[in-house]
Amino acid sequence: MSETPPLTSIADETAYAEAVQLAVDASAAYYGDGTSTLDDDSYDRLVRGIEAYEAGHPDQVLPTSPTGKVAGGAVVGDVPHTVPMLSLDNVFGPDQLAAWAASLERRLGRPVTAWSVEAKLDGLAVSARYRRGRLVQLVTRGDGQAGEDVSHSIGTVVGLPERLAEPVTVELRGEVMMTTAQFADACAKRQAHDGTTFANPRSAAAGTLRTKDRPYVCELTFFGYGALPLPPGDDSPLAARLRELPHSQIMEWVAGQGVQTTAVTPVAGVLVSDLAAVQARVEEIAAARAGLEFGIDGIVIKCDLAADQASAGFSSRAPRWAVAYKLPATEKITKLLAVEWNTGRTGIIAPRAVLEPVELDGSIVTYATLHNAADIARRGLMLGDSVTVYKAGDVIPRVEAPVVHLRTGEERPIDIPQVCPSCGDAIDAGQERWRCVRGRACRAIASIEYAVGRDQLDIEGLAVNRIQQMLDAGLIADFADLFFLTREQLLGLERMGETSTDNLLAALDRARAQPLSRVFCALGVRGTGRSMSRRIAAHFGTMDAIRAADAAAIQQVDGIGPEKAPVVVAELVELDALIDKLIKAGVNMTQPGARPSQAEVAEAAGEPLDLPLAGMSVVVTGTMTGPLAALSRNEMNELVERAGGKASSAVSARTSLVVAGDKAGSKRAKAESLGVRVASPEEFAGLVAAFL
Ligand code: IVH
Repeated sequence: MSETPPLTSIADETAYAEAVQLAVDASAAYYGDGTSTLDDDSYDRLVRGIEAYEAGHPDQVLPTSPTGKVAGGAVVGDVPHTVPMLSLDNVFGPDQLAAWAASLERRLGRPVTAWSVEAKLDGLAVSARYRRGRLVQLVTRGDGQAGEDVSHSIGTVVGLPERLAEPVTVELRGEVMMTTAQFADACAKRQAHDGTTFANPRSAAAGTLRTKDRPYVCELTFFGYGALPLPPGDDSPLAARLRELPHSQIMEWVAGQGVQTTAVTPVAGVLVSDLAAVQARVEEIAAARAGLEFGIDGIVIKCDLAADQASAGFSSRAPRWAVAYKLPATEKITKLLAVEWNTGRTGIIAPRAVLEPVELDGSIVTYATLHNAADIARRGLMLGDSVTVYKAGDVIPRVEAPVVHLRTGEERPIDIPQVCPSCGDAIDAGQERWRCVRGRACRAIASIEYAVGRDQLDIEGLAVNRIQQMLDAGLIADFADLFFLTREQLLGLERMGETSTDNLLAALDRARAQPLSRVFCALGVRGTGRSMSRRIAAHFGTMDAIRAADAAAIQQVDGIGPEKAPVVVAELVELDALIDKLIKAGVNMTQPGARPSQAEVAEAAGEPLDLPLAGMSVVVTGTMTGPLAALSRNEMNELVERAGGKASSAVSARTSLVVAGDKAGSKRAKAESLGVRVASPEEFAGLVAAFL
């Protein structure tokens, strides 16, 4: 899945001393107020480099070196832990995981037959002490031996109740973090207070947990991952049970006490019996990561049985019975080199960050979205800033915040355009998202090019230069005008012969008959693409029904929330004249069959549907061959939906079928590891022959 990040190479004793200082400072900032001078990957590489140097020069090891210490030795607290709070050793892929498990089994002298597989939560470890069912003290990890008392935060942490279900005395351990919503709320509050924001949810959680006297209160979230007898030598029946029960059952008990665990999330801990199943769950958790409401940076794999844990024991830094399977970083620090402003096909003027290229979650990121001008101001970004950049899964990379303490004084303000960068006309800055006053007309060429594209009206032979020529000649102003073009008008254009003219007119006739899903998509309604257009068309069946819908009705469509619904309604009002013109041109405004509503009716009546893919979630991957060779990915998805299935792009345990063509890579492998049915394009074509 991922490899070990390369290490920072250290040449001599001076470089070594500098590296140690850098790591100590970074670690102090990270565990202190949660600010970041190095991103996680860079820190890992640095420590690995220090380790390598120390291995070759054992006589030069500095006492301040972070190696072998919890939290890099950076922080100390004054509340001693009952039992040390340790780190975890890391593995970076299936082979390293297998090697780790093999060495553990050698040490135990027997195979491990019960593994717990959990998400590694990206927050701060805390210990929560309960006496007779009441939460009496909350302590950070600190240096692992002693931590800081943060009991003042009790009452602001969701999932960490002030009273347990039973009046028990116990120590719970878990992670304090901020969900996406809590982070947004915290940033808004801090913005209103002092005009700054937090760099990321982790540092926001760290800062929030530790500060006592903020004039505003931010909510935190807790997920428990362990429970210990309190005090450690306690001989109560509960203490005895906590020493004997398997980890998975302890976690069930913890949840039963009213404490939040990941059991309530899509990445619940699971209990499996062999390494293949561990690896499969690792991949499921990795795939779920981008859609989670909170950050995870890996997967923790633990021996489930108390006896296995007891005989494996601990090293000075970490338990030998557990390991962290690290996932690629989704956030890094890089430089903001420039900001480009572009007017899109709907007239929206959007800034885009040009970054010093950086590897993030498997791809090189050079551009990232900056949303809008207000957002730039809110984040206080400057050119030349070191910035945190976030990207996970298919998510568009975005600039999160400047790393203010890395500023050199060389940073310059970002130029904000005064006129539309495309046409020079005025900017309507009345909304958060700025727009050219000419709206869609500003970039008519772009919206027409989009409308005639293969996945929309599919009008062959209408290249950009031809569209430009028609615009220049005043023959068209939008794509509906295309349908009114006469043979004479076309023949009057330069480089337009009889054959091309007839071909174009025939293509326009075919386009008139496209299903509503494609006609709707061609409109380029903000916030809707191909798959959303298919859902909207299937849901409403006719353009009349779509136009009659208010925000509440639009929100009934799968995937449209309260934010997007009013945008779609407003867009349809703006597109009124264009839609009327299309109707006048005889363009089809219905969805053939509008089947899904039929499917809903049948489903509600409890009748099985006789569509071949009814109730199935289907993922298409790789290059199609045989009877499907000519179909684009969008056309394949349309086919899946015609045959009653749901087209999806990500493989999970809930996927029913993966259609794997040539060069199908990771999605096929994942389907196989999850035991999901895989079909060749030829087999699939047979299955849906009636719908081809
Ligand atoms: S168990 C003895 N389980 O990872 C340490 N830790 O790198 C056993 N963490 O300090 C910890 N999610 O803050 C455990 N499901 C999980 C975890 C988890 C996140 C953190 C924890 C720990 C750090 C170690």
